[in-house]
Amino acid sequence: MQEKRSSMHGLWSSSWAFVLAATAAAVGLGNIWKFPYITGQNGGGAFVVVYIICTLLMGIPLMIAEIMIGRTGRQNPANSVATLAEEDGVSRRWGLVGGLTVISGPLILSYYSVIAGWAMAYVFKSGSGIFTHLTGPQAKQLFDDFVSNPYKLAFWHTMLILGSSLVITRGIEKGIEKAVNIMFPALVALLLILVGYGIKSSHFSETLVYLFEPDFTKLTPHVILVAMGQAFFSLSIATGTIMMYGAYLPRNASIVSAAVSISMADMGIALLSGLAIFPVVFANNLEPSAGPGLIFQTLPLAFGKMPMGNLFAVIFFVMLVFAAFTSAISLLEPATAWCIERRGLTRNQATLLVSFLVWLLGFGTIFSFNSFSNVKLFGLNFFEGLDYLTANLMLPIGGFFIAIFTVWRLSKHTTLQGLQMADSGLYHCWRFTLRYISPILILLVFLKFIGVF
Ligand code: PHE
Repeated sequence: MQEKRSSMHGLWSSSWAFVLAATAAAVGLGNIWKFPYITGQNGGGAFVVVYIICTLLMGIPLMIAEIMIGRTGRQNPANSVATLAEEDGVSRRWGLVGGLTVISGPLILSYYSVIAGWAMAYVFKSGSGIFTHLTGPQAKQLFDDFVSNPYKLAFWHTMLILGSSLVITRGIEKGIEKAVNIMFPALVALLLILVGYGIKSSHFSETLVYLFEPDFTKLTPHVILVAMGQAFFSLSIATGTIMMYGAYLPRNASIVSAAVSISMADMGIALLSGLAIFPVVFANNLEPSAGPGLIFQTLPLAFGKMPMGNLFAVIFFVMLVFAAFTSAISLLEPATAWCIERRGLTRNQATLLVSFLVWLLGFGTIFSFNSFSNVKLFGLNFFEGLDYLTANLMLPIGGFFIAIFTVWRLSKHTTLQGLQMADSGLYHCWRFTLRYISPILILLVFLKFIGVF
């Protein structure tokens, strides 16, 4: 029965195509924009250590579980989980876990697309040549002026939503596979150039100390929670994306090696981005804790001083938009597939509905940077609150239940079959981690956060 099920949306042309597409979905603003700025806000090294531990001990095992569920169920996350549960004689209610993941995608996309819009605007800013010989205060001013204008932010946000919904209406696209093949190596190359520039500056060793020499006194329960949230967010865990992409994975592909490659590429790019940004921060006496504007205030300075900097800047921001775009598409797909499969909408109707809601919600984030920046709940404005709710709460909670479902509710036989693996040491290692280590760690982080111990 499981063998015969196939996706109604087509399959990836190969497992390499899947790894590329899933890496493209995982690598995005989370790595290049968010990782440096929250590392800066949370004090550096110790935060990075927790992020790496969470990626290894929670991210990778959960990614394996999600791909397996997706490939076995071959539908949207909610249906895939429910189907597997039913076949194993477990309550279909577990589908709710998949359902949670379908909601988090659009919530995240509503602010993600606003930030991706900033990157689009910066393509044009760099093209105009204004980065040449920019000073630190001027770069900050440029950014502040830009985000204080809600009309501009709304325009770019709209562009992004329109673009990604256009791609989604066409289904899983060959075009993405092809584009990723070129864009992804180019993005890495540009990051390496920036890191090389950082190495030449006199602030590289300071950066290494900042990022990799943990000062554990900075490790508060809040910092640990945010680092865990970042690991989930960056790998796109518990957002339905990975399950959804897994649903299009051919049966013979190795899930474990795919998950390991995707996670390593994702973590590598985040760390590279940190190594590129912080030398500029230290060289210009900027604040590491400057917040969401950090890369937009530092990169123009780095490019402004480079030979042919404006050209490199244009290329870099185009790549960033592309990286964000492939993630945006992946954030739209699970909810869209859910509307098609559960509510019987056509692909066009489903895309229109989900994108419209996401677009509307995006205005909350747009106004968080200008008109309503002072409207706060629990000390957080709308954007910060939504980011907190999704990355730090919904994703780890979703991940916790995915772990419980996969290794406590599904039978060993089902997971072995789903992974197409032998009953080997590797399998036992994965099962043990997902049974005992990942969920217990997630629970401990939450208990610590709410002050139980
Ligand atoms: N992982 C993406 C990034 O780092 C964001 C994302 C989160 C995409 C969840 C899909 C699902 O930019």
